[in-house]
Amino acid sequence: RLPIVVLISGSGSNLAALLTAARAADCPYEVVAVIADRDASGLAHARAEGIPTQVVRLADHPDRAAWDRTLAAAVAEARPELVVLAGFMKLVGPPMLESFGGRIVNTHPALLPSFPGAHGVRDALAHGVKITGCSVIEVDAGVDTGRILAQAAVEVLDDDTEASLHERIKAVEQPLLVDVVRRLTAVS
Ligand code: GAR
Repeated sequence: RLPIVVLISGSGSNLAALLTAARAADCPYEVVAVIADRDASGLAHARAEGIPTQVVRLADHPDRAAWDRTLAAAVAEARPELVVLAGFMKLVGPPMLESFGGRIVNTHPALLPSFPGAHGVRDALAHGVKITGCSVIEVDAGVDTGRILAQAAVEVLDDDTEASLHERIKAVEQPLLVDVVRRLTAVS
């Protein structure tokens, strides 16, 4: 099985979906480490399965460049074939791109190139779109500008709040992300 590292900042529902799918006998990947930039509650999903976790905080570093280096070193230690940003709310810097360029994917809760950035759900709702969704992309140096690998659509309902819409997006996002990660790690 190909080793993957998952980076998170939040509740880790996408991580949980990746871990659940990894239990299948035919799953081509294995989650070998989970790294967060804060005390993310989602780390519990990894700990429950005995998967090594690490927190790399920006505040523990003199500057962003130093944090970027520590993060890349922490990921490299796990020797992943693929790095998955699953609700990781920071941009990865040059050291990550140098080490893992073309092998980092990100999941985003909007139909890119619409509504990039940290508030994809809120921004789509505020704009009044009737259809939104999620995108799994390859990570490049821009903000959610990388090649689109997969997307799924979700209808916006009249009474949606950011939370209700995000919940329905996550329901389609999780299987989409699992699909892409399976595809990228499948050895032909
Ligand atoms: C996901 O919906 C993901 O697309 C989003 O954070 C959520 C994390 O949920 N990521 C971004 O907004 C990145 N800009 P989770 O912690 O439950 O997996």
